[in-house]
Amino acid sequence: MNYDDILLLKGNDIATLFQDRDREILAAVKLAYQIHATGDSCLPHSSFVRFPDNDRDRIIALPAYIGGDIDTAGIKWIASFPGNLKLGMERASATLMLNSTQTGHTKAIMESSIISAKRTAASAAIGAEQLKGSQKLTTLGLIGTGLINFEIVRFLLSTCPEIETVLVYDLDRDRAEQFRQKCHQLSDRLKIKIATESSTIFQESSLISFATTATKPHISDLSQCRSGTIILHVSLRDLSPEIILSADNIVDDVDHVTRAQTSIHLAEQQVGNRDFIRTTLGDILNGAAPADGGENKIAIFSPFGLGVLDLALGELAYKLAIEQNIGDTITSFLPTSWLERSESGVSI
Ligand SMILES: NC(=O)c1ccc[n+]([C@@H]2O[C@H](COP(=O)([O-])OP(=O)(O)OC[C@H]3O[C@@H](n4cnc5c(N)ncnc54)[C@H](O)[C@@H]3O)[C@@H](O)[C@H]2O)c1
Repeated sequence: MNYDDILLLKGNDIATLFQDRDREILAAVKLAYQIHATGDSCLPHSSFVRFPDNDRDRIIALPAYIGGDIDTAGIKWIASFPGNLKLGMERASATLMLNSTQTGHTKAIMESSIISAKRTAASAAIGAEQLKGSQKLTTLGLIGTGLINFEIVRFLLSTCPEIETVLVYDLDRDRAEQFRQKCHQLSDRLKIKIATESSTIFQESSLISFATTATKPHISDLSQCRSGTIILHVSLRDLSPEIILSADNIVDDVDHVTRAQTSIHLAEQQVGNRDFIRTTLGDILNGAAPADGGENKIAIFSPFGLGVLDLALGELAYKLAIEQNIGDTITSFLPTSWLERSESGVSI
């Protein structure tokens, strides 16, 4: 690649590159959290583009830099249009741009919905691995049966291999059925059961993942959960502030997650402080905070989703693509220097 070339990776290129790479993906996500927790990153707040009279659709920009052994900068631009499902398309679509940290030049443009789903799921699976302590999490409960929870099952099979049963619940029964069929492709030893009510999930699971498209809290009572239950609150807006305030809260980044009307943000608005957030996953991974909150409370991991994770997986995809000669190259993207461009004279 020349300094003014750009590598273009399509969605199916990324799918090929990430085939059987779960271990490398988990390692890259873990490393990004650890580097971010030491401060060797730059992570401006993500910007939300919304539309008048529509609180459902959005496009988010996530610019970032991550240092250490990853050392890359860039931006993810991700759209969420939940109505796409009814049109037979995915809810999310995304593009990631990587920039050289030597020249600032764009070095890669890649489809990023797969990267986004995998970094989110790897992060949730690492959260469960860290928080479970000596617990054997044999029953996993899932609320919402889209791509994100599917990828979460994939990565939990690596970090919590003791899972035997997966209980799933979705407002849309057809999606739950589709999900069950798809999960059989991941493992034929898993028992996948569809629950007709979310309460069954709370009663029977030791690990629960929320990946719904709820925009406002719809769960205000978790008294059916046993103590020590671990909740991966990936969709961020399902749980009432009261539940958050009574739990052991672990987040990915305190400033980021306390925004955009997440349940953590609503809890902060209610009490006027952030004292109810115990620590971050990065600090746990770096040994700067204990994994166990020590009070036998329900543990809730709320990951806002950090641009540094997209960069970490984007860089992994970039390196693999160069090694394997996958993707298309846009050559000579940059213009000739302004000093060397021919001028035709000013016309008035
Ligand atoms: N925190 C992060 O880093 C991060 C990253 C990516 C996606 N997400 C979030 O994860 C969520 C899921 O993403 P996806 O791609 O799987 O979406 P999806 O649209 O494919 O699936 C969501 C499913 O949730 C179901 N659902 C909606 N409300 C529900 C409810 N109240 N109870 C039960 N089921 C319900 C829908 O029927 C649908 O099947 C989205 O909200 C997305 O914004 C978070």
